[in-house]
Amino acid sequence: MVIPDSEWLNALLRLLQAAQSDLLWLLHALRLTGDVHGQPAWPFALRAAGETLIIDLGQARRLAWSLACAGLAAVLGVVACALVWRWRRAAAGLVLAAVALVLLAPWPDAHVVLTEAVPTSFHQSPTGFTAASVVRGQAVFEQHCAACHGADGRGRGPGAQAQAMWPPDLAGPLLWRRADGDLFWSIAEGLHDREGRGTMPAFGGRLGDDAIWSAIDFMKTQGAGQALQAAGLWPRPVAVPDFAVRCDGGPPRRIASWRGQRLRIVATGDGAELLEDGRLVTLRLTAPGQGAEGCTSDDPDARQALALVAGVAGVAPAALTGMQFIADRGGWLRTRGLPGKTGWTESDLLCRTGTGALAAGTGDGMGALIAVMDAEPVRYVKGGFVH
Ligand code: HEC
Repeated sequence: MVIPDSEWLNALLRLLQAAQSDLLWLLHALRLTGDVHGQPAWPFALRAAGETLIIDLGQARRLAWSLACAGLAAVLGVVACALVWRWRRAAAGLVLAAVALVLLAPWPDAHVVLTEAVPTSFHQSPTGFTAASVVRGQAVFEQHCAACHGADGRGRGPGAQAQAMWPPDLAGPLLWRRADGDLFWSIAEGLHDREGRGTMPAFGGRLGDDAIWSAIDFMKTQGAGQALQAAGLWPRPVAVPDFAVRCDGGPPRRIASWRGQRLRIVATGDGAELLEDGRLVTLRLTAPGQGAEGCTSDDPDARQALALVAGVAGVAPAALTGMQFIADRGGWLRTRGLPGKTGWTESDLLCRTGTGALAAGTGDGMGALIAVMDAEPVRYVKGGFVH
């Protein structure tokens, strides 16, 4: 049986991640490490480099085999302990076999498997990726970051040229290659080149933790929109920014509460009639104060966050009107329909994770799209961590 690379690689990354988080939890519980920025501090200068293992399959395979050998060696060691009183020779043989397994295992290069860590490497964003956080982050970014990074985050702000180094294009893969906690640290503590000269100032003294986390939410959202405008797809998965919705006058409900169902979010306002589709939960974004039947939200932050994700935030507020977004059961945005769109096909998927061999006999275009979306769920790997 051949296990697809993505399967064992994901399992390996999950194992490394769980081992490190459990270790951090234990050290924190034993008070061997304290808190930093409100969460347990990673006390080591190194951590497993999931982000490198994803791209270096050869080394990842060697690590997987070596861990398997080490696991087997541990089992042999336990059995040897059990046998040592009655069958000394057998026990000694097992110990030798265990040692040989560990020594002969194809251990990968340490510099590939380990990378520099910072105290916030394992921090999780506390924002919940809400539309409100994205919009708050936009204000932070415009005030503190756009001068160098450019209002669009592509790295061409008015002050960029004066820097020792060009700021990176935040619409590229960079933000996904880094763990959120590492991004947080870079912004709070600033960045340096190899000679120790500052390349980006530290913002920890000027911005609160919440503002930094929000700026990260904003950069991801805007980066997705910029990539969509440039390449016509979302090359890296982006979740629906969370906001509150009311259904037929009921109490407010968060987007996250529909997890497990497919969502269609429509920015209404162009008067076009919308046909319900039983395979999707339809949510309407309306103008402030304007109610409508079914499930609606008049939260301006939701409109703004979706305009950013679609890459039309800078165009005109009306550019979003009539646009539709479809999210899968995991809450990931998978496609957006331009205003006036009626028919859908499988090729409308903007966030793909597989080869897209279409299941036959799915009927209409929306059925085909849904079939592919369900068959290829998003496995989110960020900074080498599977989420
Ligand atoms: C004075 C110019 C300047 C300002 C202001 C600035 N940056 Fe940067 N930023 C840079 C430069 C230059 C780099 C590349 C530095 C490097 O790679 O060493 C960078 C890199 C980054 C990176 C990539 C970090 C990484 O891990 O590679 C992020 C994220 C970032 N900046 C976010 C921000 C945010 C958020 C703000 C505002 C709170 C901000 N920057 C303000 C110049 C700036």
